[in-house]
Amino acid sequence: MRKIYIETYGCQMNLSDSEIVASVLSQEGFSTTEDIHQADIILLNTCSIRDHAEQRIKKRLQQLRAMKRKRRDLVIGLLGCMAGRIQSVLAEEEPLIELVSGPDSYRDLPQLIQQVESGQRAINTILSIEETYADITPVRIGSNGVSAFVSIMRGCENFCSYCVVPFVRGKERSRSADSIIREIEKLFTEGYREVVLLGQNVNSYRWPEDDTGLDFAGLLDQVARISPQLRIRFATSHPKDLSARLLETIALNPNICRAIHLPVQSGSNRILHRMNRQYTREDYMERIDAIRRLIPGCTISTDIITGFCDETEEDHALTLSLMKSAAFDYAFMFSYSERPQTLAAETLQDNVPSLIKERRLREVIDLQHQISQQSNRKDLGKIVEVLVEGESKRLATNFMGRTSGNKVVVFPRQHSHPGDYIRVKIIRCTSATLIGEICT
Ligand code: SAH
Ligand code: SF4
Ligand code: F3S
Repeated sequence: MRKIYIETYGCQMNLSDSEIVASVLSQEGFSTTEDIHQADIILLNTCSIRDHAEQRIKKRLQQLRAMKRKRRDLVIGLLGCMAGRIQSVLAEEEPLIELVSGPDSYRDLPQLIQQVESGQRAINTILSIEETYADITPVRIGSNGVSAFVSIMRGCENFCSYCVVPFVRGKERSRSADSIIREIEKLFTEGYREVVLLGQNVNSYRWPEDDTGLDFAGLLDQVARISPQLRIRFATSHPKDLSARLLETIALNPNICRAIHLPVQSGSNRILHRMNRQYTREDYMERIDAIRRLIPGCTISTDIITGFCDETEEDHALTLSLMKSAAFDYAFMFSYSERPQTLAAETLQDNVPSLIKERRLREVIDLQHQISQQSNRKDLGKIVEVLVEGESKRLATNFMGRTSGNKVVVFPRQHSHPGDYIRVKIIRCTSATLIGEICT
């Protein structure tokens, strides 16, 4: 049996896609391996979101080139968001890569592999307007058996001016509600206790895709009914589409997690406008107030970009002040990286020098570090409900799990098992982790 090794870069959606790839291939008699040296075919599932992401993949290809020299029959393939950019980005590595498959052509992989084995290069990077892999049951890779990703939509049409995703992932489309519910029911029967519903902008979910369709709040409500023992998370929400109905649905269902990831990107209206985010600072803060009012105790996290086109010190100061007002529990922070094809690359000047971008990024990270620490300190002494996921990375005698608010909690395992809901008293914290003891 031929063995496949899949290495995944980028976001949760890519991790979920790798599971779809594993499923497509396992049906054709391939098996996946976690040991790259055992593999006959190495597939890199790639990310294009920032230049740094693409550089990492190029470096990895250099290493694989050395491996291929020793083993001529090894097949190296490229999947995911960089696939459509192969000619322009990977000119030097091109001969090394015999197989290229874009995010919407994974069903074609067995045939593409066959083509490579018959001595031809195989490429399919065509984006689809309807592919959602609805009927494919993902093969869970590296799973803890407790939490699973479930993709509910693909693509994005928001065209934020900095973002490459609409170009590499294509049109936005929702997956049928029936197939989502069936997949989750099956996961629950298999022992999974948490699902993460995935899409670039889950708030615009609709099935069927017309005015009569079920919206995201409706879908969440149905998923929440599968079992009170099943936790539901979702990512990502776009601030322009976070409806009151959605917040009410969360408030009414205790098993929908008290955690909302709401990328703000910038605190300045001038910059938000240039980014084509379609909301103002005021709209965003109004959403934050609504979350705090309707779902008390809800964790709020965000994404921030520093040094976008024309960003001044005043704009940057507005981002810092918004971070303080919103008091995010945690954040993912990046300096702006110009991406080809995007509106920003075509119409705006990438005119903030990289030293300034990086300095602003450091200021944003330092501030968030303090705010995260304060947020975690507030949990000291509290008793929280934790879903146990498995061993802690640092110390095998400890387990780790998460609160409904998505905070990581580490504790001595005692008699608990992965998949259990337990009560933990928080006794210490860092800016990233809560440390506690099981309450007996
Ligand atoms: N769909 C999600 C996020 C997708 S990408 C959303 O709309 O929020 C994840 C994050 O990467 C973005 O939120 C943004 O903060 C960051 N990002 C995207 N393009 C970027 C770029 N060109 N340079 C720097 N950061 C970028
Ligand atoms: Fe990119 Fe904006 Fe779509 Fe998110 S919503 S994937 S940032 S274009
Ligand atoms: Fe995700 Fe990167 Fe593609 S963030 S959607 S893998 S460009």
